[in-house]
Amino acid sequence: MIPKYLDFTYQEGKSIHFAITGSIAFFKVLELIRNLIKRGSSVSCSLTKAAREFVTPLTFKALGCDPVQFDMFSLSETYSHLYPGVDPDIFVVAPATANIIAKIAHGIADDLVSTQLLAYNKKILVAPAMNPRMYNAPQTQKNIQTLKDMGIEIIFPETGDVACGEKGTGRLADILYIYFRILKAIIPQDMDGQKVLITMGPTREFFDPVRFWSNPSSGKMGAALAVAAWLRGAKVTCISGPTDVWLPNDIEVIDVVSAEQMFNETLSRWKDSNIGILCAAVCDFRPKNLHSQKLKKDSIKSSLIIEFEKNPDILAKLGNLKTTNQILIGFAAETDQNFKELAIEKIKRKNLDWIVANKINEREVGFGADTNEVVIIDKYGEIQPISKMSKSDVAWRILDLVNKK
Ligand code: CTP
Repeated sequence: MIPKYLDFTYQEGKSIHFAITGSIAFFKVLELIRNLIKRGSSVSCSLTKAAREFVTPLTFKALGCDPVQFDMFSLSETYSHLYPGVDPDIFVVAPATANIIAKIAHGIADDLVSTQLLAYNKKILVAPAMNPRMYNAPQTQKNIQTLKDMGIEIIFPETGDVACGEKGTGRLADILYIYFRILKAIIPQDMDGQKVLITMGPTREFFDPVRFWSNPSSGKMGAALAVAAWLRGAKVTCISGPTDVWLPNDIEVIDVVSAEQMFNETLSRWKDSNIGILCAAVCDFRPKNLHSQKLKKDSIKSSLIIEFEKNPDILAKLGNLKTTNQILIGFAAETDQNFKELAIEKIKRKNLDWIVANKINEREVGFGADTNEVVIIDKYGEIQPISKMSKSDVAWRILDLVNKK
C-alpha cells in the first residue's frame, strides 16, 4: 500500500486509537491499521454497535489491535469510556458516520465511542463515509463545520460511486491519504510557514509529435522530498515532469513536459518561495527543430541527424535571483569518480546553499531506485555522507539540515 520511496518511519512507537463506526467502508481501514502496526505503531480500537453489525471485534484483535473495546459496561475495564486504548497520541474516527459526527458536534455521549471522544483531549481526526445525500444534508454539513471549529481535523470524503449505487460525495478518502494525514498529525510541524518549491522527474524534449529525448528519472526523490516537507508542515509546490509518483492533493502540482516549461513555471514561483529544492533531471539540450508531422522512416536515407540546442539552466537562474532569506538546494547526478569535486564546483557556479550529490552508476542508487546513497555538501565545502537508505529517509535528512539553518 505504501510506496517504498514514501516509507517514512516517524510512526514507530506511536500509539494510535481508531473508532470504527457503522459503515461498509470499514474494510478499507483494515489495511490501514495493518500497515501502521507493521511499521511499529501500537494500534487500539473501539467499535460502535453499528460497526459490529458489519465486522467483529475479533477481526481487529487478529490484526494486532490491543485493546479492542466495544463494551461500555465491561467489568474488566471499568473506565473504558474515559480511556480509548492506552493513552493514544491520536484518535482517528474512520469510517465516521453521520451519526457519530452529529454526536461529537453536540456532545452526546451515549455509547463507548462517543464517551471516549468526549473525554479525549488530544488530536482527533475524522474521516466521514456515508451516502451522498446524508453527507450533503445541511445537518451533516453544519456538524462537520462545528467539528472544524472545535479544532478536529476532517479528512474529507471523495466524490464518485458509493456502495449503495449512488454517485456523489461521501466515499471514504483514499486510504493512503488517510495514512499520511495520520502521520502528519503526529509529526512536529517544524516547517510550518515555509513555502517549498520542488522540481522533480524528467523533462521530455520532443522532436516530432511521437518522439522525444529524455532520461530515466522516476520522480521518486522529488516526491519523497515533497511529501516529507508537507508532513512537516510546509506548503509545497511541485513542478513535475512526467512521472507516476503518488502525491497528496494538498501538494500543488504543476505538470510540465519540457525543460522550457519547467523553467517558466519554476521561475514564476521562486519569488514567493523560501526554499527551492531542484531535483528534476532536466534535459540540458533539446532538439533544435520540432517537426510538426511524424518523421517517416523512409524519408531518412541512412542516419538520422538531430541538431540540439541548450536548454535554460533553472537552478543557475534561481541561484542568480536568490535573496538572503531564500535557501536553494541542487542535486548533482554524476558518473565520474570525482563527483564530490564536481558537485562543489556546481555549488559555487549556481550560488547554492547545499548540493546533494550521488553517483548514479551504482546499484540501487539514483534514477528509478527506491534507495539512494548521497553526499550532502554545504556552501563551505563541508561534506555529510548519507549511507544507502530509502529515498524517504534521505529526504528527511536533507530537510533536517535545512531546518537547522
Ligand atoms: N538543473 C536545472 N536546469 C537544467 C539542468 C540542471 O535546474 N537545465 C538542475 C538539476 O535539477 C540539478 C542540478 O541542476 O539540481 C544539477 O544538474 P546536473 O545535470 O547534474 O548538472 P548540470 O549543471 O546540468 O551540469 P552537467 O550536466 O554538465 O554535469
